[in-house]
Amino acid sequence: MTSPAWSDALATGIPDIDRYHRHLFEVFEELRFAAQGGTQRAMTGNLMDRLLSGTMEHFSQEEAEMVATGYPHLDHHHAAHESFSDEVVALLQASVSGATIAAPVVIALAHRLVDHVMTHDQQLAAYLQAVKPTTV
Ligand SMILES: [Fe+2]
Ligand SMILES: [Fe+2]
Repeated sequence: MTSPAWSDALATGIPDIDRYHRHLFEVFEELRFAAQGGTQRAMTGNLMDRLLSGTMEHFSQEEAEMVATGYPHLDHHHAAHESFSDEVVALLQASVSGATIAAPVVIALAHRLVDHVMTHDQQLAAYLQAVKPTTV
């Protein structure tokens, strides 16, 4: 069983956002592979660091756009980011404390990202395209 992969169906039409999403799905798939024993343990920690830093950078990027454009659903979207980040941090802490990261947990989190992209991020992208048509 693989982690959900990037596809055009997930595209928001905002290149900077889509680039980050593609990157995050790639890291999730590498983590899924690692969780199934395909990678040395040290690599798993490295992947968790990349997942957390990539997630935080990306969420900051989206939220900066929301602030800059006066996005009306910023609070709601920010809360969704916080909730997702909390799960990534929990997974990282479990990994650091020596727990085995189970592939289904990684896959479930990647599916959560799919849900986030298809709801919160698509809504944000539609707004950004309406207020900043030159960025697309
Ligand atoms: Fe988002
Ligand atoms: Fe996003």
